[in-house]
Amino acid sequence: MTEDEQKRMAAEAAVTYVEDGMVLGLGTGSCAAKMVDLLGIRVQAGLKVIGVPTSDATAKQAAELGIEIASLDQVKIIDLTIDGTDEVDPQRRLIKGGGGAHLREKIVASLSDRMIVIAEAKKRVSQLGAFKLPVEVVRFSAPALMPKMQALGSTPSLRQDGGGALFITDEGNYIIDCNFGIITDPESLALTLSTMPGVVEHGLFIDYADTIIIGTDNGVEIIGAT
Ligand code: A5P
Repeated sequence: MTEDEQKRMAAEAAVTYVEDGMVLGLGTGSCAAKMVDLLGIRVQAGLKVIGVPTSDATAKQAAELGIEIASLDQVKIIDLTIDGTDEVDPQRRLIKGGGGAHLREKIVASLSDRMIVIAEAKKRVSQLGAFKLPVEVVRFSAPALMPKMQALGSTPSLRQDGGGALFITDEGNYIIDCNFGIITDPESLALTLSTMPGVVEHGLFIDYADTIIIGTDNGVEIIGAT
């Protein structure tokens, strides 16, 4: 089975959790895009939901599919967020931000009653850290934060876009991709990063994901609450 098929299977399984009338956090990335496509089909068939997108790209996709979208001043609660991930460990801790959207993703997830994470099989790891940890920073602070990320034990690089210019997030910030190698204590690293002036948000999601749905060659595997 291809990775694309695994992603689609996970997205299909996640969409079965969506109920009429829900307010949904809509994730960002290739897995999330498949979920939004499937949601669009259900909406076109009559399902009523409101989506809170986690990126400009997802907002555009949802609007094109006819999914009603809202901003955080228009909704009181978010019932369910469905999003992808770059890595997930057995404790359901995540590294996110490969697409540069982890700031809005974490805000939306933090406001959600439930978060379902969807992924293809290769995203499951025994320990986080093979994927470079994205850290979104205020532009002004980037030159000062690069050596600080090195001092924390990583090899940092400022993310560039496809054309070689510095990548700018939807919120107007830079991303430092930090190669830590295996992260032995994600909780401690998350706390350290969260307290550094200039850091807007890091890609470690700890205690956010309630359910992980992995597409595998043998069907979907569910980790956590069913
Ligand atoms: C967006 O910034 C990310 O957090 C994505 O959710 C994550 O990178 C997973 O994306 P894919 O599903 O494209 O791998």
